[in-house]
Amino acid sequence: MKKPNVYVTRMLPQPAVDLLREHCEVEINPEDRVLTHAELLEKVRGRDAVLCLLTDTIDEAVLAAAGPQCKIFSNYAVGFNNIDVEAATRHKIMVSNTPDVLTDATADLAWSLLFATARRVVESDKFLRDGCYKGWGPMLLLGLDITGKTLGVIGTGRIGANFAAKAKGFKMKVLYNDLEPNPAFEAETGGVFVDKATLLKEADFVSLHVPLLPSTRHLIGPAEFKLMKKTAVLINTSRGPVVDEKALAEALQLGEIWGAGLDVFENEPAVEPELLKCENAVLLPHVASATVETRTNMGLIAVRNILAAMKGETPPTLVNRELLA
Ligand code: DGY
Repeated sequence: MKKPNVYVTRMLPQPAVDLLREHCEVEINPEDRVLTHAELLEKVRGRDAVLCLLTDTIDEAVLAAAGPQCKIFSNYAVGFNNIDVEAATRHKIMVSNTPDVLTDATADLAWSLLFATARRVVESDKFLRDGCYKGWGPMLLLGLDITGKTLGVIGTGRIGANFAAKAKGFKMKVLYNDLEPNPAFEAETGGVFVDKATLLKEADFVSLHVPLLPSTRHLIGPAEFKLMKKTAVLINTSRGPVVDEKALAEALQLGEIWGAGLDVFENEPAVEPELLKCENAVLLPHVASATVETRTNMGLIAVRNILAAMKGETPPTLVNRELLA
């Protein structure tokens, strides 16, 4: 029997590629770069399945170019804001993502950012390497305490809950905000539901864990920075456009907030130039899920979703479940 024909938009960890090759004819973008839209349109044509990344814009045109035989676009990410899911559903193309396996890694990186920002880890390392360290000093590179402080978590999905649960070790009070109170989150984290303004006013650390939706774009902007404590730290490992990056740079420069730890940016890979000038910001290149184990597991899930679709089964982490109706 003819094997399904699958296109993979960028090289993935080998175990995932090996599993896919066992069952499918596979072509992988040989170059370590994001494909252009024109290249995507050409490469997806006639495929039975496409394994794509959060850096690929999968719009109506790409879905149409894939053709009616295409069963699935399997996204190698938990977030799927890069895919026009409604258009995929119209084209009867399944969309899947890679939840769960990256929850710990992403929450851990949010903690890394919190620590790095509050304790000025990156700045201190640079200070030493630049030859500035002339000996211990009582006022040298003072940061902020973390233990016992108030943590504000916006978004109580898997990653937000995992991140908040880890605060127990630091004896922190957890405040949270979401569309509505989340009893499971409260049971797991001891968190207290408050409105967004209260959270911003009271939290020492504010961490964002919402998906990117029209309603969450610029969820944190000039008005929100004005509500936050001058000693507050903002952490974002969700999606860049959730924060108004220009307003953040201004808030950091004016001392409206103390610092920010970011793994995501509004126009990746570009970063707001004013933000690059802020020493009180720790800026990472979207690496929250970047561990060997997590990226391998993401690859295996993405492949299993494709293999299920090829067998006429429901992909384990199907996004547009309305297709099943
Ligand atoms: C995701 O999966 O959505 C992350 O941003 C990258 O792993």
